[in-house]
Amino acid sequence: MQWEKTSWRKKPIKQHPVYEDTQALAEVEHTLSQYPPLVFAGEARALKEQLAKVAKGEAFLLQGGDCAESFVQFNATNIRDLFKVIIQMGAILTYGASCPVVKIGRMAGQFAKPRSSDMESIDGVSLPSYRGDLINDVAFTPQARKADPQRLLQGYHQSAATLNLLRAFAQGGFADLNQVHKWNLSFVKDNAFGQKYEELADRITQALAFMSACGIDSKNSPILRETEFYTSHEALVLHYEEQLCRQDSLTEEWYDCSAHMLWIGERTRGLDEAHMEFLRGVKNPLGVKIGPNATKDDILGICDILNPHNEYGRLNLIIRMGADTIKEKLPKLLDSLKGEGRNILWSCDPMHGNTIKAQNGYKTRNFDRVLDEVKSFFEIHKANGTIAGGVHLEMTGMNVTECTGGSQAITEEGLACNYNTQCDPRLNAMQAIEMAFLIADMIKGMR
Ligand code: PEP
Ligand code: CO
Repeated sequence: MQWEKTSWRKKPIKQHPVYEDTQALAEVEHTLSQYPPLVFAGEARALKEQLAKVAKGEAFLLQGGDCAESFVQFNATNIRDLFKVIIQMGAILTYGASCPVVKIGRMAGQFAKPRSSDMESIDGVSLPSYRGDLINDVAFTPQARKADPQRLLQGYHQSAATLNLLRAFAQGGFADLNQVHKWNLSFVKDNAFGQKYEELADRITQALAFMSACGIDSKNSPILRETEFYTSHEALVLHYEEQLCRQDSLTEEWYDCSAHMLWIGERTRGLDEAHMEFLRGVKNPLGVKIGPNATKDDILGICDILNPHNEYGRLNLIIRMGADTIKEKLPKLLDSLKGEGRNILWSCDPMHGNTIKAQNGYKTRNFDRVLDEVKSFFEIHKANGTIAGGVHLEMTGMNVTECTGGSQAITEEGLACNYNTQCDPRLNAMQAIEMAFLIADMIKGMR
């Protein structure tokens, strides 16, 4: 079947909102189709080149951000603090592992959520599940839980404003390596890993002073002054993605200009389904989440559909099996692919297979379990002769208490203190920085 940006509409689709008012949806779609693209084809191509290096073991991928961005918690401080933590982690990994780091935020469009259950019941009342701010509202009322197409417009505007700030931070001097000390958030500084970061920042500052004496500084070298920062989200609501799908005037190829990279979730990656159909036609780098039940045929099918020319950097398979299950399933899966010659960027999402319900009802993840999955991911790839290319984390720059453990030793009782997520539990800034130091050691051990 010939691909068109609308051809997904002829395929079965899962996890997709159903809008009662089709006229209102059509009007919103038309409006979106007239709005400017959020990213440009050339940027998506640049990211693909960077990801090709990751797939070959010449760089490391760091992808992170909220499980779900929120309309209510949208403000400059949250964006800035998440950006800070990601570039801090980038510095830790680059310095600690002597390895270039490709940074991609789950930001500026990460609003739509697949759910394990269509309905949610509280005290005998049953309503449609919350599916992310792009679709409906988290409040537990029939009106709030209706899919509202106007939210697609609000999502677009919030993404545009977020991206605008991210571009300013990345290129306007904030990410200058000379500012490396200023990225450390005040509440992180007193923590052991915050201190460790201060020491690392001292060493970077010394190296910069030396380079400056040699004539290389951030005035004459943009590479010290600016950082490359890309955006990504799960391409779940295809009514939205289709309208931001644009034909590049240089190459005449189609790009989904809602973000640099898009991914398909574990629940919507059926080979003959709509999400696969839509994304196969756009040239952005793509991701697919891979859970414990994926087979060799699933992987080969995904590669055939999304990466028929077997290009490096086009396809990122994001493994999310859980700390125990990965040990059993990933070695077999990788072994079954031996000799197939597929160029795959493998990364590790150690969050979604390790979600549990605490005694007191909070959805949480334990730091050590998350770390354990990452460790296994590295070891399994090393044993298999393939490349552990990156990590994909749910994290925030805020001082939240959503995941247990870490050097702050957050307990299940402590979760109530500042549990703030719109959807899944995130690593807080301290846990994220601690994780970066531990991952830097793993990269060093591997390369
Ligand atoms: C997510 O990344 O938030 C998510 C829902 O992941 P998965 O599709 O792997 O469950
Ligand atoms: Co999530």
